[in-house]
Amino acid sequence: MSAISNLGYMCIVARDLDAWQSFATRIVGALCRRTADGQSLLIRLDELEYRFQILQGDEDDLAVAGWAIDTSQELDDFVASLRAKGIEVHEADDARRDARLVERLFWCTDPDGLCHEFFTGARQAPLSQPFTSPLISGEGFETGRLGVGHYVQNARDVASTVAFYEQVLGLKISDYIRHEDFLPGQNVEATFLYARTGRHHSAAVVAMPTPKRVHHIMVQLKSLDDVGLGLDRCTDGGIAIQHGIGRHPNDQMTSFYMTTPSGFALEYGWGGIVIHEDDWEIKTYSQLSDWGHRMPVPLLP
Ligand SMILES: [Fe+2]
Repeated sequence: MSAISNLGYMCIVARDLDAWQSFATRIVGALCRRTADGQSLLIRLDELEYRFQILQGDEDDLAVAGWAIDTSQELDDFVASLRAKGIEVHEADDARRDARLVERLFWCTDPDGLCHEFFTGARQAPLSQPFTSPLISGEGFETGRLGVGHYVQNARDVASTVAFYEQVLGLKISDYIRHEDFLPGQNVEATFLYARTGRHHSAAVVAMPTPKRVHHIMVQLKSLDDVGLGLDRCTDGGIAIQHGIGRHPNDQMTSFYMTTPSGFALEYGWGGIVIHEDDWEIKTYSQLSDWGHRMPVPLLP
């Protein structure tokens, strides 16, 4: 199994940081703060200083997947293993490492152009500032050892991107979904991958006819009620729903998909399973959802 423990953070490049700040605090139920230079936004979901960094820029897309490694020795061994496979891995300079609020940081780029960072020592928020959200009624977000959540990468070359995750990063295949005619004339083939601590998938790879590198990102709640309350906040706040409530057959996540200020979706879910590698069998599913996840019907004028 990979040295990678979990997906620790994601960085998103976005045009409108004010919109993201409002979205994160009023809809998602996260805590937010601007960095001192005003050029990025830290979105907090738990005891860590952040789980998402929103960086000022034009792309409106996922820019970095930040992979957590438990120990400095494991990080050294992991970087050496990548270099032995011919991957160009860079040690981050002080400015980049300090911006990520981690102790050690390396990075490389995958065949699809997405940047992957590998770190140890994510900084915790001060103990005097425990995570509490006025909008989250339950026990908060399902993060901790499982990491921030997951993302689905919309890859131009699926085969080489999946090979990178599996053979270079050492992630394991959870399962596949091959959904024919997901949209008229459009088949979806998705490959799901998990890291050491076993969130069903920390990354997935698909090929969709959309321009962004990311199809969606996901955060998980510990209470189903919090997912429903999030749906209410979207409706009340005029946030577009891309897929209504539904359940996926593979990770058994009950969720819906809201539109972020960058145009791609945020899946807001509950109940995703954890994989134990020793008794896991890779399956192939024929549909993306057991039920639901329908696209909303426009209201009549
Ligand atoms: Fe998802």
